[in-house]
Amino acid sequence: MRSAKVTVTALIRAIYDALQSRKQLDGVQQTISRLDTLDLDSQRCSPLPPKIPLHFEGELKAAVDHIPASLKTVAEAFWVAAPYLSWNAETDSSAGYYEAGEDVGQSFLGGNLVCRLVGPSESFFLSQDLFLSLFFLKPRTLYRDHADRASEMYFNLTGPCGLRLGDEDWVDYPPDSVIWNPPSRPHATRVYRKPFFERRIVGERS
Ligand SMILES: [Fe+2]
Repeated sequence: MRSAKVTVTALIRAIYDALQSRKQLDGVQQTISRLDTLDLDSQRCSPLPPKIPLHFEGELKAAVDHIPASLKTVAEAFWVAAPYLSWNAETDSSAGYYEAGEDVGQSFLGGNLVCRLVGPSESFFLSQDLFLSLFFLKPRTLYRDHADRASEMYFNLTGPCGLRLGDEDWVDYPPDSVIWNPPSRPHATRVYRKPFFERRIVGERS
């Protein structure tokens, strides 16, 4: 059986490879550069115990089944790594996905799961300047307007999903699309019938 480190590294590499053809988009090159500085083969990993809340299992599977053929390699790498992934609901701001005091809404609090692949703590691989997470939202979830000190890049594995950036109107994004949000710009997310995101956050946290 392949190890947790081998399979999670392969998943990160599949995401990295998928981003290579999107380098011209804002933020993608920055994400790739930061991934380049991580030497995953020699870096020590600190896997958390594999975990997924039972009531999310079916929906997460449905989400991955909706990943389009253009991202087949990512979906396959996901299934191989899946037994080793630790999924947790973000129910407060301590992980830095949103700022303290933000009202992100009950829909988000009960409808999200995050698996931290790279980050400053409680992540499979540790890094002080890159967050890389798999991010899942249940169907019909609203993640209300919030702002982050870090810039964020969302790489949507499924869709369509809606995002509202700053003062703009809602825009629907298809699966296999990338969105870049600069630091401190408020943004909101809504999910329709089909769930799941993958997102990464790039940037310094103060
Ligand atoms: Fe955000």
